[in-house]
Amino acid sequence: MKVKKGQTFEVEISGIAFGGKGLVRINGMAVFVDQAVPGDQVLIRITRKKKNYAEARVMEWRKASPDRVDPPCIYSGFCGGCKWQFLEYAVQLKYKRQHVQESLEHIGQIRDARVHPTIPSSQIFGYRNKMEFSCTDRRWLTPDEMQRPEIDKGFGIGLHVPGTFFKVFDTKRCLLQPDLGNQLLDDVRQFIISSGLPPYGLHSHEGFWRFLMLRHSVAFDRWMVNIVTAAEHRKVLPRIAHLLMETYPAVIGVIHNMTARKAGVTTGESEITLAGDSTLIDKIGAFEFEISANSFFQTNTRGAAKLYATVKQYAELSGSETVLDLYSGTGTIPILLSDAARDVIGLEMAPSAVADAENNCRHNQVENCRFILGDIRETLPAISQRPEVLIIDPPRAGMHPDVAKQVLALLPERMVYVSCNPATLARDLISFKEAYRVEEVQPVDLFPHTYHIESVVKLVKKVV
Ligand SMILES: C[S@@+](CC[C@H](N)C(=O)[O-])C[C@H]1O[C@@H](n2cnc3c(N)ncnc32)[C@H](O)[C@@H]1O
Repeated sequence: MKVKKGQTFEVEISGIAFGGKGLVRINGMAVFVDQAVPGDQVLIRITRKKKNYAEARVMEWRKASPDRVDPPCIYSGFCGGCKWQFLEYAVQLKYKRQHVQESLEHIGQIRDARVHPTIPSSQIFGYRNKMEFSCTDRRWLTPDEMQRPEIDKGFGIGLHVPGTFFKVFDTKRCLLQPDLGNQLLDDVRQFIISSGLPPYGLHSHEGFWRFLMLRHSVAFDRWMVNIVTAAEHRKVLPRIAHLLMETYPAVIGVIHNMTARKAGVTTGESEITLAGDSTLIDKIGAFEFEISANSFFQTNTRGAAKLYATVKQYAELSGSETVLDLYSGTGTIPILLSDAARDVIGLEMAPSAVADAENNCRHNQVENCRFILGDIRETLPAISQRPEVLIIDPPRAGMHPDVAKQVLALLPERMVYVSCNPATLARDLISFKEAYRVEEVQPVDLFPHTYHIESVVKLVKKVV
């Protein structure tokens, strides 16, 4: 029997697919079921049918999986911030490891890799050091709010319903950030309401208030508030900045980014410091990092420390090596390796990231790191010094095939590949298969209650 749109089936969910959806096979066809986890017994309806797979929605719950827990957040089930809160944390870790292993096997044809158990996040709530909340002029109502006709359907500030840019609900509390973040969110909400200025419409692209970004320094328990608007306003913006600085001693700076672009990104065409400091300082290991509003910094500081410690362990540095770090961002990896290597060269194409990296070297009195600005496809062929160790930490899309070829021409003794996307990781490892052996793989969880996973792979040159 063929699976068709609109059909219903009684099933038990048997697996989990990347993206966090439950998986069941019906007559050989993979069916992805939103909100379901392995062990759930459910009545489902097929909502979408493609050539090789189908999607379904749960119509009725028959029996809950033993892996389910009561999610503490009232928005669990429709918030895009975390989709796995109803899954026991130990089970999340198991599925994340399984996802890395299966990607290596199915995409990379690497069957003998030693994939270690996932290193857990030391905190599973309040772990995020950066949050972005969007403003909307027409908020999405939660099922509970739908029952209350007195609720104002206009302004809202908060997180998105998964996969949508325009469905924003008024988030009163997010458990992924430390609690002061929720007080800041609420104060900004009240200020926006009383300001008389309109929120930005995600459809109309008109209005003033666009985003609130909060950053938290774990080491020093300090906060940076970044307010993003569509235009300048010399009266209102300093008022909110001073209000926050006066109310909260932990807020050390209030920044304003201004963007008239339609794209939903918080980086403005112009940035000014409204009050206090323009950067926030956090610490990983022995080093401090100055983070500006739009710098890249891993969003789970404690988790990042474990991730980078694994990178250092896999790099096996003795102090005499030249290390080349591809996609070096704000220089976190070069700085953390600087005390164990002779020198570290970072390649990065974002000018602001290179400026941050150089600044962070000065801040930490690190003198053996240098950074080369430009697209790696152009800067890598110009590297004349053969590195003993190569670190690769690309964006989600992975490496360009030309870069993989250039890496093979350098032929370092060891490579450490850091990835936030198991699928592109597995694809890229195919390029290195002839010359390198995957010695071990360490998944590290930086994002509890989401299906995202970081992995660190140790590659050793094959003896010929
Ligand atoms: C995942 S981040 C790595 C960040 C850094 N290793 C860290 O842990 O903070 C990827 C970085 O690659 C940079 N990037 C992306 N494509 C690039 C390219 N073709 N050439 C150079 N840098 C690139 C991005 O600007 C970004 O900073």
